Amino acid sequence: MRRNPLECWSADFFRQPIVKLRLPFTDTFVVHDPRAIKRVLMDNSENYPKDTIQRRILSSGLSDGLLSVEGKRWEMQRRTLAPTFAPRTVTSFTKPMLAAANELAAKWTRMGSGATLDVAAEMTLVTLNVLALTIFSDGIGSDIDEFRMAMNAYFGVIGRIGALDLLGVPKFVPRPGHRRLRATMTYFEAVIDRIIDTRSRGHASPPNDLLTLLLRSPDPSTGRQLGLKEIRSNILTFLSAGHETTANTLAWSIFLLSQSAEWRSRVVTEAARELANPDDELAARLTVTRAVIEEALRLYPPIAALSRMAREADRLGDLMVGPGALIVIAPYVLHRHRELWDRPDAFDPSRFLPEARGAIPRFAYLPFGVGPRTCIGASFALQEATIVLATLMRDFEMRLLPHADVQPLQRITLRPAHGLPMTISRRSAP
Ligand code: HEM
Repeated sequence: MRRNPLECWSADFFRQPIVKLRLPFTDTFVVHDPRAIKRVLMDNSENYPKDTIQRRILSSGLSDGLLSVEGKRWEMQRRTLAPTFAPRTVTSFTKPMLAAANELAAKWTRMGSGATLDVAAEMTLVTLNVLALTIFSDGIGSDIDEFRMAMNAYFGVIGRIGALDLLGVPKFVPRPGHRRLRATMTYFEAVIDRIIDTRSRGHASPPNDLLTLLLRSPDPSTGRQLGLKEIRSNILTFLSAGHETTANTLAWSIFLLSQSAEWRSRVVTEAARELANPDDELAARLTVTRAVIEEALRLYPPIAALSRMAREADRLGDLMVGPGALIVIAPYVLHRHRELWDRPDAFDPSRFLPEARGAIPRFAYLPFGVGPRTCIGASFALQEATIVLATLMRDFEMRLLPHADVQPLQRITLRPAHGLPMTISRRSAP
């Protein structure tokens, strides 16, 4: 569990709909029956708030952001933030997404043919850049490298699943690294405050970016606007929830494509055709590229496990769940479940092509969760990953080094344990 939680999933979990475990402090139900998932995450979701473990691990330092608030505060924030991620807003970010992809392509071109790179690390750079350009379109205002280092320090502390948290040890027992976390948070807060301050003093016409939306959005029901602390926390929430997750989606997509000449060629052909017309509908037209990404999200879901805590007794399938029980739903297991998928371990993006997509049962595929707490950034992430993948595939051949050992490791997200060492060569124009 400490080394790599993925290793806990023995073959049984991939066949059974629900498995009950007895852990030291709580009964735990591992649930992969689509009907029971629907009950926990949707129909009876009020009985299953996010459990303290998930909140503590995933939201360290972000206690006022959408990812971690509960009850009325969550309802208010979700209503207020919904327009920020509405389809029309997201498609209006096509240009900055393309700009970040092209910037990376230009950097790779400068490195010359045959350069060796850790493509997983490169993906974390491009997704941070996309967020920087879409949140603060007029720049971070401080050194981007310093910001990046602070992000790395932040993930370094929260990324290791705390053994103390998993064992249910109370919150007042100090966790290693949390003092460093506090210092990093103070740095982020100062950077964001500086940007908000500059913004509120300048700009006759505010730029089209997430910060403008956050500063202006009223709650559609009450007219209340987000306070400064909530805006800060949500910016940090978007940065942390949207950065590594999308980066790993891209890294796994590139890895899987490196293993399939057929899909590589289909993506390159589509990308060369569609990128010639980079309007706001671009991502919608990249259907093959998108299918590859969705298949990568199936095989390597960045959020490999979700958890909830039962408030009151409930029945899931044939089992009674007591108050306080922990419910674990692991997309990594669900997406490869023997009873739910045909050839579960095979890479086959055709499952996600528009003509086949409808056959996938809704509660068998949950890379973004489902129900009221579903990912607010899902269409943003899919659009971003589609545009970046298409751009890089059109421009470069990426070959995995012959002895690269690519293994999934679950930290806060599911990432390649030893990165993705590849040689990069500029493709000649098709
Ligand atoms: C491929 C990329 C992404 C994946 C796989 C992903 C996955 C998820 C999942 C599984 C959840 C639900 C957690 C639960 O139910 O316990 C979630 C929630 C959330 N995600 Fe994402 N996410 C991604 C990208 C993003 C992006 C780009 C943003 C924002 C810019 C974002 C912001 C959020 C927020 C704010 C929540 C909390 C929503 C709420 O509780 O109301 N995510 N994400």
